[in-house]
Amino acid sequence: MTEKLALKNIIVTGGCGFIGSNFVRYVVRNHPEVHITVIDALTYAGNIENIAGLPRDRVEFVHGNICDEDLLNRVVPGHDAIVHYAAESHNDNSIANPEPFIQTNVVGTFRLIQAARKFDVRYHHVSTDEVYGDLALDDSARFTEETPYRPSSPYSSTKASSDMLVRAWFRTYGLKMTISNCSNNYGPYQHVEKFIPRQITNILEGIRPKLYGDGLNVRDWINTEDHSSAVWAILTQGRLGETYLIGADGERDNITVLHDILRVMGKDENDFDHVKDRPGHDRRYAIDSSKLRRELGWTPAHTDFESGLRETIDWYRGNRQWWEPVKAATEARYSQQGQ
Ligand code: NAD
Ligand code: DAU
Repeated sequence: MTEKLALKNIIVTGGCGFIGSNFVRYVVRNHPEVHITVIDALTYAGNIENIAGLPRDRVEFVHGNICDEDLLNRVVPGHDAIVHYAAESHNDNSIANPEPFIQTNVVGTFRLIQAARKFDVRYHHVSTDEVYGDLALDDSARFTEETPYRPSSPYSSTKASSDMLVRAWFRTYGLKMTISNCSNNYGPYQHVEKFIPRQITNILEGIRPKLYGDGLNVRDWINTEDHSSAVWAILTQGRLGETYLIGADGERDNITVLHDILRVMGKDENDFDHVKDRPGHDRRYAIDSSKLRRELGWTPAHTDFESGLRETIDWYRGNRQWWEPVKAATEARYSQQGQ
């Protein structure tokens, strides 16, 4: 294991989104010596409330776009690391309108790695298991760091493109980088467009949950707290130039997750609608995270899915003011798509 990198002043891009804000909260709680500068454009997916209540001497907010080179020239100097979460993150949106995905995920990453290079700042790139495409349901294989890239959707192809830029910047310019590819996160502050929060908030609003296709697609669920601890381990102990897969052995098919949500919320397990499938819908994701566990000693701490789901449901029950303002517009968008 390499010596731990001592960090004092980090930038978190996308720190007002779901996973970025959970990471900011994780660092504030666990690493009191670290100051965080959040850069976030506050798109439809970003919400300043996600970092509300955090100490101002620990967390500074910069409202801005990662594609803005002048902004990066002003903000990046003086920091010792960039942790890059900002992205357009939703597959269905990428199918309806890919353009913003190219801008933020590809051009935005390009601008950030140029700035990291220029100011000699350590860079961690947060990516997704979707870059590897999908696995068959009857296959026992899981993704590893050696699996060839085979992205299916506009979203995942832009994430794959950004990973490739980061790898090339390491080899050509010696960018001090690491990459992590994580599976599906769940937890608080996730936008209601995503599967688990959509179904929970549908039930709370008296709308029937919506399942795409046959519902047998498998996702490998991880509590977002465990994603945060893994990114921290990679950022501070990872070997430069390396990719680490993050996963917590949480494979479940969508229909099982939906049954769990309905049961925990006191509803009939069959009280949902089958809707039109997502075009190009990936069948199964599964992560083999042995490299991360072996090299960095990381291990997930929140692997009881049902208890994590209960906590997530309680969070959406207790924070209606957070999601109600965007719920109707999200559902209107889905119903236009027949979903
Ligand atoms: P999210 O959509 O909830 O949040 C994205 C954040 O980025 C928002 O706060 C948004 O305002 C900000 N943003 C978007 N475009 C920007 C721009 N041009 N400049 C500055 N800020 C911008 O996303 P998420 O689900 O939290 O995902 C965060 C990262 O983690 C993404 O890179 C995603 O690919 C990756 N990831 C997500 C998952 C998952 O399960 N959600 C799993 C693995 C990896
Ligand atoms: O694997 C990591 C990826 O996980 C991240 O890179 C993405 O940013 C993140 O959005 C997530 O992608 P998915 O497409 O897997 O997540 P989503 O929540 O959109 O859907 C999860 C599964 O549920 C998927 O098989 C589609 C299905 N689904 C989704 C919605 C919104 C439904 O059946 N009904 C729904 O209403």
